[in-house]
Parts: sequence; structure tokens; C-alpha cells
Amino acid sequence: MTENKANVIDGKALAAKIRAEAAVEAGRILTERGRRPKLCVIIAGDNQASKVYVRNKQKACVDCGIESETVELPGTVTREELFEIIDQKNGDVTVDGILVQLPLPGGIDEKEIIARISPEKDVDCFHPVNVGRVYTGDPVFLPCTPAGIIELLKFAGVEIKGANCVVVGRSNIVGKPVGALLLAENGTVTIAHSKTKDLKKVTKEADILVAAIGKAKFFTKDYIKPGAAVIDVGMDRDEEGKLCGDVDFDDVISVCGAITPVPGGVGPMTVAMLMKNTIKAAKGK
Ligand code: GUN
Repeated sequence: MTENKANVIDGKALAAKIRAEAAVEAGRILTERGRRPKLCVIIAGDNQASKVYVRNKQKACVDCGIESETVELPGTVTREELFEIIDQKNGDVTVDGILVQLPLPGGIDEKEIIARISPEKDVDCFHPVNVGRVYTGDPVFLPCTPAGIIELLKFAGVEIKGANCVVVGRSNIVGKPVGALLLAENGTVTIAHSKTKDLKKVTKEADILVAAIGKAKFFTKDYIKPGAAVIDVGMDRDEEGKLCGDVDFDDVISVCGAITPVPGGVGPMTVAMLMKNTIKAAKGK
């Protein structure tokens, strides 16, 4: 690491700004309607990471003046029980947003559960109707992590238009939708994945690289085009059990132009965009 001038993109600061804006809107809604916007989070089972994510979402709600309700269910919950709870929340006019934390316990078809949420309360933007709207360029909600990534790039002054954007990972939560949003911003998008041939050759061409493969410190500087913007979506643990991303930050920072740290990059933005979507859902009524 020598004369390193890479811009370390401060996701925490940007997320705080977006949350502050959501708080202003939540205050306005409280004044106008006599009640706060409300997010209902449904969590089933014992996944420790999920519990941490849900706690972060609850804290963000409190910060923003959004009411949060959490429905905690045992790992033995059935699809019928989940349907019943979702139906009840769909019909409750005081609930603006509904989120089912994934993964659900084994044996439950997540797609079927997500599809049960009213599209107008689907603040995760996981419902097939909302996913479709994103792809046709007519979105109601934007998916939280992908929208957070676009905000981070804009905040860092990275031009997406015409840029060669390489997304590594093809999940429904990150890889595919961030590809759609980068395309909507006029990027030239490649989605690479575990079967991609000569991955290094592909990522070396990227002006913008989005790393979302879930492998600790996988991307070293030999995967990076000099000056590239690198967005690290990973939430991994290194050999010492320390939280890290998919990108080897200390190695890559010597060649890239901009980079998001882990923690403090994409993670806080996901929650901030969820707050934004909850306000949107409340205003939509
Ligand atoms: N599991 C991992 N990420 C997410 C997310 O953004 N939303 C939900 N509901 N579950 C997740």
C-alpha cells in the first residue's frame, strides 16, 4: 500500500442522511394522520444472522420515528400459519410495510410466502409484481440493497452511464436486481457467477465491480481494473472470525478508485433504503 488515493465510500454517513430524511417524512405523516408509519417484520426460526439483521431494522425504525412490530415465530411454523399472519397484516390499515426475513425454515417455499404479501406493502421489493415493475422501468419500490448500491455510486461521484459494470453473483436479492438498476442507469452490465469462465478477465474490464458472492476476501487486486469503483456486498468472516467482505480491502485499495468498506459500506444502506420504502408505502395510501 503506497500513495493510495482511493475514495473510501462512507455508507454509514450516507445512510444517516437518508434516515434523517425518512425521519422528517415520518414526522409529517404523524402530524397529518395522528399515527406513525408502521413496519411489520416477520421472522421465523433461530437463524442468528437474521436476528441481528432484524434488530438493526427495529433500531432504524425507532431512530426514524417509524413504528415497528416484530412477529417472532418458531422454526416449526407452517405455511398456513404464515399465510394467516400475512393476510391479517395485509388487511390491517395501520400496517404500511410487511417484511418476511429470509431465509425461512427449511421446507417452506419462500416464493409462495413472499407472493402472499400485498404488493403495495412489499417494502423489500421481493414480490414478483414489484420485481417485474423494476425490470420494465416502472418501479413502485426499489429493492433495498441494489438501490443502496446505486446511491453509494452517485454519492461517490461515479458515473454509471456508459460504464462497464460487472456484477459477480446472481441472487434474487442482490445480483439480478442490481444488474437491472445499473442497466436502468445506462450502464453496460455483465452478470458473472460461479460458472463464468475466466472470471479475472471479466472483472478486470469493470469500471464498476459489484462483489456479491459470499466468499471472504475473494477479490484481490489482480481482479481489479486500475481506478475502478468497487462495491462490496459481502458479509463474511475472515480466518480470525472478524467481519469482512468479498473484497480483500487492504490489497484492492492500492489499485481501485473507490471502494466500500465492510462494515460501514453497503450494509447500513440496505436498512436506510428499507426506511425509505416504508415511508413510500405509507404515503402511497
Ligand atoms: N435476508 C438477507 N437479506 C435480506 C433482506 O434484505 N430482506 C429480507 N427480508 N431477508 C433478507
